[in-house]
Amino acid sequence: MALDIVILAAGQGKRMNSSLPKVLHPLAGKPLVRHVLDAARVLNPRRIVLVYGHGGEVVREALAAPDLAFAKQDPQHGTGHAVMQAMPALADQADDAMTLVLYGDVPLTRSTSLVRLIDAARGGALAILTVNLADATGYGRIVRDANGAVQRIVEHKDASEAERAIGEVNTGIMAIPGAKLKQWLGRLSNDNAQGEYYLTDIVAMAVADGVRVTSAQPDFEWETAGVNSKVQLAELERVHQRNIAQGLLEAGVTLADPARIDVRGLLSTGRDVSIDVGCVFEGDVVLGNDITIGPNCVLKNVRVRAGTRIEAFSHLEDAEVGAHCRIGPFARLRPGAQLGEHVHIGNFVEVKKSVFGAGSKANHLAYVGDSEVGSKVNIGAGTITCNYDGVNKSKTIIGDGAFIGSDTTLVAPITIGPGAYIGAGSTITREAPADKLTLTRAKQTTVESWKPPKKKSAA
Ligand code: UD1
Ligand code: CA
Repeated sequence: MALDIVILAAGQGKRMNSSLPKVLHPLAGKPLVRHVLDAARVLNPRRIVLVYGHGGEVVREALAAPDLAFAKQDPQHGTGHAVMQAMPALADQADDAMTLVLYGDVPLTRSTSLVRLIDAARGGALAILTVNLADATGYGRIVRDANGAVQRIVEHKDASEAERAIGEVNTGIMAIPGAKLKQWLGRLSNDNAQGEYYLTDIVAMAVADGVRVTSAQPDFEWETAGVNSKVQLAELERVHQRNIAQGLLEAGVTLADPARIDVRGLLSTGRDVSIDVGCVFEGDVVLGNDITIGPNCVLKNVRVRAGTRIEAFSHLEDAEVGAHCRIGPFARLRPGAQLGEHVHIGNFVEVKKSVFGAGSKANHLAYVGDSEVGSKVNIGAGTITCNYDGVNKSKTIIGDGAFIGSDTTLVAPITIGPGAYIGAGSTITREAPADKLTLTRAKQTTVESWKPPKKKSAA
C-alpha cells in the first residue's frame, strides 16, 4: 500500500491574534505542525504535501525537508479546495494508493490512532476518524443509516435540527482511496451554507460509488483537538504536559507535582530520579540514576550522570555533568561545560566551555570560561577567568590540586601549575609555577599620618 499524506495548514488562524502563522506556534517548544509531521513520518509515507496559505512562506522556510512538498492555497475555499491544491504534488495514484488527510493545527494525534484509521481503510475503503462529543457544536456530523453504515457528513451550518443532535463528529482526519480522490474532488460543489468546497462531501460520493466507508476512533478525545486560539493552545499544552508527566511517573520518576513540570523535548531518566516543582527540560536531556533536581531548574540538552544533585534555580545548557556532582543553587552551566565526578559548582558560578576534573570545586561567585580545570582544584569565591580581550578568546589551564584564592583574576592565556597556590586578590598574567605560592597583591601598609576628612566650613 502506497501512502501519501496531505496536511492542511492554509487556515489563517486569525483568532491567535499573532503575526506568526498559526501552525508555527509552539506546543512543548515545537511548532504545532511539526508534531503533525512527526506523527506522519512514523507512518513511512512516500510523500507528504503541506498545503499552506497566504503569508505562509515562513511556514515553507521553517519546515523545508526533502520528504516534504508544499502547495499554496490562496484564496482559501474550503477543505476540499485545499486538498485539490495538493493533487499536482502527489505521485500517481495506483489502485492500492491511499491518501491520509491531516490538519496542521491538530498536534496531538497519536500514530497508533492513525494506524488504526489506515487499517480501517485497507482494501480500498474510505475511513473517517470520528469522536463522540458531549457538545458537537460547529463540527461536521456523521450521518449513519439504520444499520449504522456511514451515509455522509453534514456540516453544522448545513445540518437540520435532527442532524445537529448527532454527537458523533468528523475530526477532519480521513484516509481516502487515492485512485478515487481526484475524481471525487472534481465533482465537489460549493453550493452550501458556507460557499466552500467541503472535503466532507466526498463521503456521500463514496457511498454512491459503492465504496466502503468505515470509521475509526482515537483512544482519547484530545488527540483530535485543534488549535484556533491561544486559549486552546494553552489547554493542549497542559494536556500534553500531563501526558508526559504521567509517563515519567509510570517510569518511576518522583515528581513533586505532576502539574508543575514542563518537558519541551525528550527527557530520559534512570532509576530513582526526583524532580521538584517548576523545572523545564528542553531538547535532549538524559538523567542517570539517583538524581535529584531542585525546584525551578532549567535543563536544555544536558546529560547528568548518576548520584548528582542539582539545587534550586540552576540553569544548564549544552552541558555534561558527571556522577555525584553538586550543582547550585543558582548555578549556570553554559554550552560546553563538562564536569567530571564529584564536582561542586555553587551559587552564582558561571561555567562556559570548560572542563572540570574530578573533585574540583567552585563554590561561590565565579566565572570560569574557556578553561581546563584539573582534578581537586579549588576555585575561590570571586575568581574570574579573563578569557576575552575584546577581540579574541583565550584559554586558562589550571593544573590538578591548584588552589585559586578568592577574588583572583586569571588573565588568559594563562597556565596555573599543578598544586599552585594563588594568593587572594591577585591578578595573574603569567604562568604560576606548580606547588608554589604566587600572588600579585601590593604589600599592606597603614598610613600613620592619615587623618579623617573634615567638613569644610561654609565660606
Ligand atoms: C472541518 C470539517 C468538519 C470537521 C472539522 C473538525 C469540512 C468541510 N469540515 O470543519 O466536518 O468536524 O473540520 O475540526 O472539512 N483549511 C485549509 N484551507 C481551507 C479551509 C481549511 O487549509 O480552505 C484547513 C485549516 O487550516 C484547518 C483545517 O483545514 O487546519 C480545518 O479547517 P477548519 O476551518 O478549522 O474546519 P471546518 O471547515 O470548520
Ligand atoms: Ca474548525
